[in-house]
This record gives sequence, structure tokens and C-alpha cells, in this order.
Amino acid sequence: MSPPDYFEVTYAINPWMKGDTPVDRSLAIQQWNQLRSALCDKARARVSLVKPVAGLPDLVFTANAAFVYGDRAILARFKNEERRGEEPHFRASLETLGYTVVEPPVAFEGAGDALVYDGRLVLAGYRQRTEVSAHQLISREFGLPVLSLELHTEHFYHLDTCLCPLDGGHLIYYPEAFDEYGLKVIEANVPEEKRLSVTGAEARNFACNAVQVGRYIFLNQPSSRLSQALNRRGFEVVGLDLSEFLKAGGSAKCLTLRLA
Ligand code: ARG
Repeated sequence: MSPPDYFEVTYAINPWMKGDTPVDRSLAIQQWNQLRSALCDKARARVSLVKPVAGLPDLVFTANAAFVYGDRAILARFKNEERRGEEPHFRASLETLGYTVVEPPVAFEGAGDALVYDGRLVLAGYRQRTEVSAHQLISREFGLPVLSLELHTEHFYHLDTCLCPLDGGHLIYYPEAFDEYGLKVIEANVPEEKRLSVTGAEARNFACNAVQVGRYIFLNQPSSRLSQALNRRGFEVVGLDLSEFLKAGGSAKCLTLRLA
């Protein structure tokens, strides 16, 4: 994670950033601290920090830093110039943690667009931020099958805004963020009883942007319907208020990068 000392919305590279209510930085700091404490206290997670940097307001969204698997990481190559300055900071942090870092030759936004499903395959998004050819690099580097899913709406521009794999092969997703072919791929690979779809209202509250650690799932303001559905699958939902980060188009999952 990376503390929101310099978090704000100064440019708009996704539609969420076009709102007119400015970020309340001190509230953002409180909300981020609550997420961090919840992860550490409830789920006993250990959190490593990337030092915040002035002028890089989106550095808080560490999910985009890289796709990490085993002891290697494919570093982000941001599509938008506004975020490219983050790359050397993420690279240095990953190297300090002992990862071998590979740089992709095309746009790639890390674990925002590449998610391991059920320990056996990678679901990967493209079109809005990541080039589809980056998916081949993941497959080549790690020997994992990669299923490419086109993201065809501007609001759900990273795969982790509209799809979240959970342990046990469960999956939360927002069907409308995908095209017909993408839905077929999801349906062919995820058994029906393991698929949990969310409504438009839930998706806009970042219901798919969940962090799961053990039986806990950390989420921005979950609906009671979703919490109950996750309970029935054996998970316990920890609701948080991450309103300030939604203004930049991110929530719980975007604020973290899973390392183990
Ligand atoms: N403002 C950031 C951007 O548009 C938000 C990134 C959210 N991260 C994520 N993994 N979805 O790039």
C-alpha cells in the first residue's frame, strides 16, 4: 500500500475523476488508515509501504504497480503520461522486496488488469488501459493460461473495477462491463454456482473492487444483498467507507497489491 499524503484529483484519466466535489485529503487519510488497520487487525495481513511522492497523486493505487507471481513481477507501463512517473518508484519498491522485475514493451496496468483465478489461470482485461499483447507476456513469463476480456465501458476501465476472483473459485463480476464474447469466456470457465453478479448500483459503489484475505472480504459500503450472498459462500464482509478514493475511480482493491 502507499499512504495518501499527496492523494488528490488533479487530472481526469477516467470518468470518475470528472466529478466536481474535490477530495477531502484528511478524510482520505482516515479512510486509508481504516483500510490498513482492518487488513492488519482482522485478517492479520502484513503491509509493506511504498513511500508517497509529491506530484504523483495516483501512487496510492498500488494494484496498478505490477502483476506479481512467485518471485517475479511484470511492472506497469502506464497508458497515460500522468501516471508514468510512478513506474520507477514501484520498480524500486518491488526490487527492495526481492522481486525480479520485468518491464513490458506495451501499456500494461498490473494487477488492475490481470487477476489470478482459482490459482490456475489469469483473467486479464484490455482495451481501456492494457494492450492485449501484454497478456501474451504474462503467459510466456509465468506459463499460465491467460483469458483476455475486453472492457468496453469507460467507467469500468480496469478489470478489477468489474471482476474479482475469490478463493474457492468464486468470482464477483458486473456482467454489463463485458461484451458478449467476454461473458461467454467467463461463463465457460467459472461454474454458475461460483459466479456472483452485482447490479449497476453495486458496481458503481465498487462492489467488485474487493480485497479478500482468508475468510474476510474488505469492501466499500457493501449492500446487504451482496454481504449476505458472500456470507452464504463462507466469507465475512468488512464494510469500509472509501468515498474519497471513489472520486479518483478506485476503492479497496486498487489501494492494495497482493504480494503473497
Ligand atoms: N485514478 C487512477 C487511474 O485512473 C485510479 C486507478 C484505480 N486502480 C485500479 N486498480 N482500478 O488510473
